[in-house]
Amino acid sequence: MTFEPNVSDALHNSVFLRACRREPVPYTPVWLMRQAGRYMPEYREVRARTGFLELCKNPALAAEVTVTAANRLGVDAAIIFADILLVLEPMGFELEFARNEGPVIHNPVRKSSDLNRLSEVEDIGALHFVFEAIKLTRQALPANLPLIGFSGAPFTLASYIVEGGASKNYVHTKALMYNDSTAWHSLMSRIARTVSRYLNAQIQSGAQAVQLFDSWVGCLNPDDYREYVLPHTRDVIENIVPGVPVIHFGTGTAALLDLMRDAGGDVIGLDWRVRLDEGWTRVGHDRAIMGNLDPVVLFANQDHVRDQVKRILDLAALRNGHIFNLGHGILPETPVGNVVALVEAVHEFSARS
Ligand code: CP3
Repeated sequence: MTFEPNVSDALHNSVFLRACRREPVPYTPVWLMRQAGRYMPEYREVRARTGFLELCKNPALAAEVTVTAANRLGVDAAIIFADILLVLEPMGFELEFARNEGPVIHNPVRKSSDLNRLSEVEDIGALHFVFEAIKLTRQALPANLPLIGFSGAPFTLASYIVEGGASKNYVHTKALMYNDSTAWHSLMSRIARTVSRYLNAQIQSGAQAVQLFDSWVGCLNPDDYREYVLPHTRDVIENIVPGVPVIHFGTGTAALLDLMRDAGGDVIGLDWRVRLDEGWTRVGHDRAIMGNLDPVVLFANQDHVRDQVKRILDLAALRNGHIFNLGHGILPETPVGNVVALVEAVHEFSARS
């Protein structure tokens, strides 16, 4: 990409972007994956009259949902309301969010001949509604509040493309990977090229950082990750506009963290299954980290939430480059009061004297 991101001083010096660059901060920044979602009454109210895909494709509503969540919670970054699977439609997949069933891809890829009907997205303009939502959100957010764009990472997107939806054992995905590595690498490199274009277009539209969600990559052993995934994720990250922080996130990744770091990312996301200090050592202290409260802790009482916030901040030891987050997205029934209490506790306990 040839354009220079145009970031105001207020954004450049925001607590979140400073932490991404491992610079000193007055307090630890916090935002939450899925911070705009069903746990929030304002979101449920919008969803009562709008389908999920319809909401994603309506820039004004997507911007409203994004801004409402960020303001209500008092977090240090907003994340654009969208979904990792939207990019599959312009690639030629028929996507549906069936009620209470999660996403379904009606025409999955199972063998190399299926790849022929995949269109490589030379023009990601078909996702104009995401870019428009980013522009509107950027205008509506406080001038010093960064906006995060995102995409699925190649492996996690491939898992949906091959399985046709969510999966427990990734049988079809791994079978393709092992049986026909040429087809696998061809699929992964197509996804990688599309994803970097998509993320750069989000940056050009007004996102100050981007996150790659490799949510399901933890199903792989390290050798398979190195061979089948790492080169493609690296390809995505190497092609992102220089100077824009990339957050590289996955779950179940305790054994993959050093390889994920090698694939790239200024910030590596940790889930809650790994102790934050051990995870950071494995990532290396020359990178920032994000995490890593168990989302289920938010179902406990507020004293316990505050204790667990304290525990994680203690493990981070006020080292530069910690962004507080959950280890995965907020769950639908989470009490909103606990989420607000979490954000306040992070700010209170991490204030630098
Ligand atoms: O973080 C945010 O607030 C931004 C919005 C966001 C959504 N999805 C909205 C959403 C983000 C960042 C995502 C990413 C996403 N989508 C991931 C990666 C994060 C993760 O959880 O690992 C994945 C795997 C998806 C795919 C996806 N979208 C699934 C499996 C589902 C169904 C399961 C579920 O939670 O309902 C969705 C739907 C979805 N995406 C919802 C939201 C708010 C719920 C849809 C609804 O409103 O009914």
